[in-house]
Amino acid sequence: MILAVLTAALVAAIALIATTTSIPSELALFVGNPLQPLGARVNQKSSEYYIGYRGSDFDKPWAKSFNDNVSPVDQDFIRSLERSPVPASQGVSIRDAGEALNQPGYLPLEDGYTFLDDGTLLLAIRSEMPPNFSGEMYDFWFSWHMNDTTKYKLWHPKQHQYAATTYRTKLWGTTSFVSEYIGATADKISISFFDPSLLNFTTTNPSTGVETLVAAFAKTFRHTKRDATAMAKRGFKPWDTVLIHQVRRTPDGGGYEVRSRFWLGSWLVRRLRVVGDPEGLARDLCVHCREEMTHLGRFLPGLFGEFGGDVST
Ligand SMILES: *[C@@H]1O[C@H](CO)[C@@H](O)[C@H](O)[C@H]1NC(C)=O
Ligand SMILES: *[C@@H]1O[C@H](CO)[C@@H](O)[C@H](O)[C@H]1NC(C)=O
Ligand SMILES: *[C@@H]1O[C@H](CO)[C@@H](O)[C@H](O)[C@H]1NC(C)=O
Repeated sequence: MILAVLTAALVAAIALIATTTSIPSELALFVGNPLQPLGARVNQKSSEYYIGYRGSDFDKPWAKSFNDNVSPVDQDFIRSLERSPVPASQGVSIRDAGEALNQPGYLPLEDGYTFLDDGTLLLAIRSEMPPNFSGEMYDFWFSWHMNDTTKYKLWHPKQHQYAATTYRTKLWGTTSFVSEYIGATADKISISFFDPSLLNFTTTNPSTGVETLVAAFAKTFRHTKRDATAMAKRGFKPWDTVLIHQVRRTPDGGGYEVRSRFWLGSWLVRRLRVVGDPEGLARDLCVHCREEMTHLGRFLPGLFGEFGGDVST
């Protein structure tokens, strides 16, 4: 009952917004026509997805980077999750994040999650990367991995099961259609990338060692193409999920780190409280992110050495 009321309110609000601004793709989400433009490229049949490499997958030139020995997250990280949610004052709103993440040093919340005062759920994950990592590699990775399931599986061999994309290489404006396990359940997710400066994020800052930053809107449960540029221009809404990954030299200069943040809007969180478990999702997503970033650090320097020229933009 509560769910029905919430859903009706959500649809009504979206319809209202869609008539006052031009975001038809948002409306399409709720009237359900996402398949048309994707049909040719995207296999929507999740029953055909599977975890790991099989048969001819091992013939891919990058198969030697497939290593399904994913290191478990460390005890400090688990303790950070156990201490969460931390007080809202330790978090940063998406409005202030661009400036906050551009400062040297660390923020109060680097690992864990909190519910901000407006109800937004913020996740923070910091993953250490090796000294031979770089922002350039990370940019390569995002342009390279999205168009082939066997590439995407390198990243989290135990939880990634499918990937396709709207375009081959260009990142901003591209939607990546994936299926991955977050915790015990596999979901379709559409990840639509945009120019981070549209939400005030800085992509490079030599004085703080920031070498790149990747930003996207994420939509769970569907493979649906969205115009992330238009969405970023209209700003973060309570039904949005935005994620960013910042690649930075560690303050001691010895290595690299990926600082990841996810903002799940307050309406989503409210829905999750009815139909799911926002804190369970927060923990699962933090662990997934930490595992996949740490794993990426293990093979990307070598992969980039071999395939770094394989992306034409
Ligand atoms: C970006 O920063 C400017 C200046 O600090 C601010 O006025 C604006 O609201 C910010 N935009 C977003 C989308 O957060
Ligand atoms: C990158 O550095 C790690 C050690 O941090 C090393 O194990 C790995 O072999 C290096 N990769 C390349 C391609 O040099
Ligand atoms: C993926 O992109 C590469 C270029 O980076 C291209 O050579 C390859 O054919 C594409 N694969 C698929 C499955 O579209």
